[in-house]
Amino acid sequence: MPSIRPHPDFTSLRELPDSYAWNHQPDSDYPSSADAESVPIIDLTDPNAVQAIGHACKTWGVFQVINHGVPTHLFDMVESTSRDLFSLPVNQKLKAARSPDGISGYGFARISSFFSKLMWSEGFTIVGSPQEHFRQLWPHNYINHCDVIKEYKQEMKKLAGRLMCLMLGSLGITAEQDIKWAGPKADFNEASAALQLNYYPACPDPDRAMGLAAHTDSTLLTILYQNNTSGLQVLREGVGWIKVPPIPDALVINIGDLMHILSNASFPSVLHRAMVNRTCHRLSIAYLYGPSSSVKISPHPKLVGPSQPPLYRPVTWNEYLDTKAKHFNKALSWVRACV
Ligand code: SIN
Ligand code: FE2
Repeated sequence: MPSIRPHPDFTSLRELPDSYAWNHQPDSDYPSSADAESVPIIDLTDPNAVQAIGHACKTWGVFQVINHGVPTHLFDMVESTSRDLFSLPVNQKLKAARSPDGISGYGFARISSFFSKLMWSEGFTIVGSPQEHFRQLWPHNYINHCDVIKEYKQEMKKLAGRLMCLMLGSLGITAEQDIKWAGPKADFNEASAALQLNYYPACPDPDRAMGLAAHTDSTLLTILYQNNTSGLQVLREGVGWIKVPPIPDALVINIGDLMHILSNASFPSVLHRAMVNRTCHRLSIAYLYGPSSSVKISPHPKLVGPSQPPLYRPVTWNEYLDTKAKHFNKALSWVRACV
């Protein structure tokens, strides 16, 4: 396991250090058919969006949305805040470093501890208000940056609630009382979320490096904004890794493990990773959406019956994260119900 140590100044590295060299050839593991398939793009103003979303969730676990209603200027603003953050000197960023047992703050990708090699990326996780950390980074103008994050999170929360309705709607769950899937506190206003800013510097040896290793998200759903540099790939069963090209103003929606559980495995969570490239840096901003802490997620009652037993036992987001911290990409098997 790599020890937790400060990030190098990526811009000063002319060669890939051995600790960042992964034993893989990213392009050679693409079957040629992989380019023929592409992640569905769904227009949220289309009257058939609910069916299209249901199909995408069942067969891909990921899709892109356009005409989602999030004001475009917000993407420019959140991108500019992220760029300002990651371009600070390393020592300044380390003032807001994530503490060893903390979640918020600057540091390596949070999944790093599962891999022996390091990833060519930096991250900044925001749970709740970023004020304390942002004050360390920008003592004189942190408030503007905090406002940007707040506004972005509000828009993401609205969109996430809308996507939840569309996803559950595609499974025939439409009544308000059913959408409150686990008691009165489990509606979308009681959701919780984190924002994950990811920065992938240009890399001197991208074929041997890894931006973010393959993982599924532990969320109900994730809304991912990516700047205009490609790098995201999703694993398509039986086909291989498929690139998810950036489309201006589109957002990528990933099904997370908790949605996998809530849908009783109708909507499988998607394995994804981020690759890097030689010339351009890349930014992505992931809104990680899940239930509030007291809510247990289990297969929705409308989706279970005598012929469809619940495949998973009820778990809170924190319980699931604990399981994930122990078993990583096998965590779903550890919360299977005894059927
Ligand atoms: C993530 O999985 O959090 C980010 C993926 C990406 O950068 O595209
Ligand atoms: Fe992810």
